[in-house]
Amino acid sequence: DAVHRPELADATDPRALAHAAELLRTGGLIAFPTETVYGLGADATDARAVARIYEAKGRPSFNPLISHCADAEAAFAEGRFDARARALATRFWPGPLTLVVRRAPDSRIADLTAAGLDTLALRVPGSETARRLLTLTGRPVAAPSANRSGSISPTTARHVADSLGNAVDLILDGGPCPVGVESTVIDLSGDRPALLRPGGLPREELEAAAGPLRDPASDPDAPTSPGQLASHYAPNARLRLNATDPSADEALLAFGPEVPGGAKATLNLSPTGDLREAAANLFAQLHALDRPDIRGIAAMPVPETGLGAAINDRLRRAAAPRGYD
Ligand code: TXA
Ligand code: MG
Repeated sequence: DAVHRPELADATDPRALAHAAELLRTGGLIAFPTETVYGLGADATDARAVARIYEAKGRPSFNPLISHCADAEAAFAEGRFDARARALATRFWPGPLTLVVRRAPDSRIADLTAAGLDTLALRVPGSETARRLLTLTGRPVAAPSANRSGSISPTTARHVADSLGNAVDLILDGGPCPVGVESTVIDLSGDRPALLRPGGLPREELEAAAGPLRDPASDPDAPTSPGQLASHYAPNARLRLNATDPSADEALLAFGPEVPGGAKATLNLSPTGDLREAAANLFAQLHALDRPDIRGIAAMPVPETGLGAAINDRLRRAAAPRGYD
């Protein structure tokens, strides 16, 4: 077998979890499931381990990473949480929400994890497997999505193995990720909360609890996130948005019950038009349609409400010009 296959371990096996935690505690790099996407994890307090994340992903620059914590108390030890931040943490954690707060003076998180910023992105994942791993590790774990920089985020262990191959010490297989898009990121370090990245927690739910969010899309002075490059999450195949007329050499990424014919291949994000189901299917279907025999992917329109905002954000990034094609 010429192809190296990284070790895949069952995330429900307690010995595998203990092994993964030990790898993390000794500077290792492991992929693990969360409710959103698979993460590429390293000890957030160990700059050398975190450097391996950037290297494995082939990230062009040091974008700040999210530090994952076992529970809210662990996160409160790393960042400065005022009453507003505590209220949001209590309401939405564990879950697909990342809070950017100012760094606590005695935080152990490495500067490289935060790319030198004086703010930290913290989240307590909804996935029970992920929280068990974090508890066993006993430290915050830095984890971006477990894929090469610029390619599609992984929602299965197989996606991770295909994208990162031998760059990781272990892949914990916890099955497909139920949410399927990355966490919603909001910045609480300023006067008013700002939406940095739409994601798995719908904006409407957040605004019901936090009031209106500043949004760089409509407010040029709102804070932005260093990681929000225009082109990202990209398949190799060219992606066409708001398409309802696929051609014979295109694949169709459909949404809803009315699906136009004529495409070379069709997958439906949600035949019933359910945005949660669509989010969960998004990256796996983009992976599956990204075939060499396909000229491009035509994506049908998806409504901008609820999780649709995160789906459309990822589709727009995947369609953005990349300069080399
Ligand atoms: O669902 C998720 O959030 C996944 C899973 C694995 O948990 N993780 C993930 O991490 O998507 P990553 O590193 O790909 O995304 C981190 C995002 C980037 O857009 C980054 O720029 C932003 O959070 N970010 C991190 N720290 C920040 C900071 N201090 N200020 C502003 N933005 C920050
Ligand atoms: Mg990513």
